[in-house]
Amino acid sequence: MTSRTQLTSWQRLTSLADKYQNLNIMSEFQDDPKRFDKHHVALDNLMFDYSKNQFNDEIFNALVNYAKECDIEKARDDMFSGAKINQTEKRAVLHTALRSTSTEPFLVDEIDIREQINAELDKIKSFVKDIHQGAHTGYCGKTITDIVSIGVGGSNLGPEMVCNALENYAHDTLTVHFVSNVDGEQISQILKRVDPTSTLFIVASKTFTTSETMTNAATAKQWLLNHYQNEQAIAKHFIAVSSNLDKVASFGIDPNNTFAMWDWVGGRFSLWSAIALPIALYLGFENFQRILAGGENIDQHFVSAPLTQNIPVIMALLSFWHATFLNHQSQVILPYDQALTKFPAYLQQAEMESNGKSVSTDGTPLPYPTVAALWGEIGINGQHAFYQYLHQSANVVPADFIGSIHSHTALDNHHQILMANFFAQSQGLMTGVDESQVKAQLKEKGLKNEEIITLTPHKVHVGNKPTNTLLVDKLTPFALGQLVAIYEHKIFTQGVLLDIYSFDQWGVELGKVLAKDVEKQLAEQEIDNNQDSSTQGLLNYFLNKQRQ
Ligand code: F6P
Repeated sequence: MTSRTQLTSWQRLTSLADKYQNLNIMSEFQDDPKRFDKHHVALDNLMFDYSKNQFNDEIFNALVNYAKECDIEKARDDMFSGAKINQTEKRAVLHTALRSTSTEPFLVDEIDIREQINAELDKIKSFVKDIHQGAHTGYCGKTITDIVSIGVGGSNLGPEMVCNALENYAHDTLTVHFVSNVDGEQISQILKRVDPTSTLFIVASKTFTTSETMTNAATAKQWLLNHYQNEQAIAKHFIAVSSNLDKVASFGIDPNNTFAMWDWVGGRFSLWSAIALPIALYLGFENFQRILAGGENIDQHFVSAPLTQNIPVIMALLSFWHATFLNHQSQVILPYDQALTKFPAYLQQAEMESNGKSVSTDGTPLPYPTVAALWGEIGINGQHAFYQYLHQSANVVPADFIGSIHSHTALDNHHQILMANFFAQSQGLMTGVDESQVKAQLKEKGLKNEEIITLTPHKVHVGNKPTNTLLVDKLTPFALGQLVAIYEHKIFTQGVLLDIYSFDQWGVELGKVLAKDVEKQLAEQEIDNNQDSSTQGLLNYFLNKQRQ
């Protein structure tokens, strides 16, 4: 494959980045009254405005040409068709099949995955019904009131984010709790709040080997057995979601209580699979289906919209432009909807575990920056915390503003104030306040000339900060499915633009292996003298203090 930097369009982008170093977004609006019309995409229930970014027509066209030269459409079709695009793990990438309503057979390694998916959906549906109607009870016949979902990373972030976001849609008899941290504090706090006779544990782990999850699951199992003193209770109180049936069985969970996952679903793309069992239980199966429908709606958009009207493609191109050509090394997600509190953390794993890499698909080091660090917070809270940095630090942090037109609450005045801030912030980040405006404002306030001169530099906002705006009609299950799928396809597209493999995560392995080794040293109280002196010193200090 030709290296990305040798493509004609790459060279064009390099020269445009140089030519338009000082491109001013506001001037672009002044020069082109149709800029907003040209640079927003509206679907039925959502709108994506990307006009407040640092580009002009030349740059936009060059970015789209670059996507074409990278053969983005072929890469996309390969993913949807089940080609093994996760080449380092020799796996297909088919989370899209999980939300497809097609009835055509879909063969992967000669197995019809459509049948597998439908069978699993039926199993989820009937299990949800059994729990909601009290057919599946606790061991002593009590109705299940609490779900404790144990998992980490992709086996936790999606379900927790969605349950948190859509609590307005929750089934009123169930409470859901999430345990992800191996810090015993988290599970202890939750176990204090639930009753063993009416609690259902879901152990969600694709591999069923993740140390944090297995430790928490073992603690939960022991807690249940302490109450029942009878192994048979496990069948009523423990469910597994995993692709490792042997490990599930040796943990003691009945195969009938196990929901399947497959190699072709990556952990961070798994909220469309049985990993969503807590979602389906908490929100009901119909709402889970609406989330799937939202995802499928965006799949259809991603597959059929021209690149210049394609939301995930445009988002990816802009992030690529920002990080790789303009060297903006951080990006921020700013939801102005309380429902999306956990969305930035969810996206952090989705994007950074996928594309936080620096080697090309052919294994050579990449000569350019890949993705920026992603972080974020509910916008209003951010305004009173880090927006100072967004407005006035020398670093440029491209931002995604996400908001909704209708709120779930009847407190309309709250929503208008919230959204006034939403629109004002992206406007202010772009317009800034220049020296002459600051001086005029201070003069109007009656300040003396000397004070004006001293204060002015502190009050100038240079502006020109790039932002995207995503507005949904209302944060329904369908809309949330759309939002997640938009970012998933953005991440996929970024990987293609950057020429990296987005679906493996070797960088997470090193920590896991080393932690096992350190765990052994701590258990045996024998510190390895062949390791670096800092780690040796820390481990000795830790053990000595623990012994005191
Ligand atoms: O964080 C690393 C990772 O491998 C993720 O990709 C995955 O979602 C998570 O650990 C949990 O893995 P598992 O579902 O196998 O427990």
